Amino acid sequence: MENFHVLLSFFLLSFIISPPTATAQLRPNYYANICPNVESIVRGVVIQKMQQTPIAAPAALRLIFHDCLVRGCDASVMIISPNGDDEWRSPEDMTLKPDGFDVILKAKAALDSNPRCRNKVSCADIIVIAARDAVVLSGGPSYQVELGRYDGRISRTSSVHLPLPTANLDQLNAMFGAVGLSQIDMIALSGAHTIGAAGCPSFINRLYNYAPNRPSDPSLNPGFLFQLQRTCPRFFNPAAFAFLDQSTPSRFDNAYFQNLQRGMGLLGSDQVLYTDPRSRNTVNLFAANQQAFFNAFVTAMTKLGRIGVKTAANGEIRRDCGFPN
Ligand code: HEM
Repeated sequence: MENFHVLLSFFLLSFIISPPTATAQLRPNYYANICPNVESIVRGVVIQKMQQTPIAAPAALRLIFHDCLVRGCDASVMIISPNGDDEWRSPEDMTLKPDGFDVILKAKAALDSNPRCRNKVSCADIIVIAARDAVVLSGGPSYQVELGRYDGRISRTSSVHLPLPTANLDQLNAMFGAVGLSQIDMIALSGAHTIGAAGCPSFINRLYNYAPNRPSDPSLNPGFLFQLQRTCPRFFNPAAFAFLDQSTPSRFDNAYFQNLQRGMGLLGSDQVLYTDPRSRNTVNLFAANQQAFFNAFVTAMTKLGRIGVKTAANGEIRRDCGFPN
């Protein structure tokens, strides 16, 4: 009986010392004594890749969302499974651009060529650093990232449940709410669509036969509708795409929110943030005040980066980001 009490107190104490929250281990200077230059090494790779292609920044930024919302921020989105059952073969992840994955693989290679850093930095942390750098180097806010994630070992196609571009406000709030993100976080994070592009399948439902007696989505600006119908005719070229932010497609700014005010959001899930009166005030605030958007974006990205973080107990530092050790 006494043994039981000792065990019980030890068990309870261990919870007090290290509460079972996944965020406990994350901290900005996690690699200070392990790989002190981790952030400058990753940044160098992001800069280089951005000089090669304008797709690099949006593709790398999108990865953090697709990683963290599925099984937590554990780089499960990077795993290639020989049997074909992995996240990136889901319909949602199929539109992730190879250049985004390439940023992470090149950063990992650059880190591994440094003897101090070899096999010490998780792919999950590289995704978080690269996303931040993509934002900063595109003109967005600079912020400190929390580090210390471990990589997961599992990736399954069936685990991918990401919001669809046709989602309404309730569906968006439900998906983000399920991982502890508020409506304001969701709206701020949607502001990531201030850079990058989407292929016709992501918005063509808004252009033709939208609903009974509705040839197109009534929330679309008529001039923008005309332009999009030319970019994406009913039988569109599979390579055709439109920018998510028409005015400044490669600049991280608040123009995305100003576009929504003019009916120029590209995805249904973008435009609904303005159409629905419950989220319109926040869109108006971010459209009027870029700093308010930047502050909310940094807060939300930090919260996004804390989702389902793995520890040494249930994760590993993957040697090759594409495969579990
Ligand atoms: C609110 C729910 C969201 C939905 C429904 C959504 C959906 C989409 C879709 C359908 C595309 C275009 C895919 C294609 O056709 O190639 C896209 C692109 C993109 N998304 Fe989102 N997304 C959401 C939130 C986010 C978040 C939270 C982030 C990052 C923090 C993000 C970052 C991006 C970026 C940067 C692109 C452009 C990618 C490129 O140019 O390759 N998205 N998103």
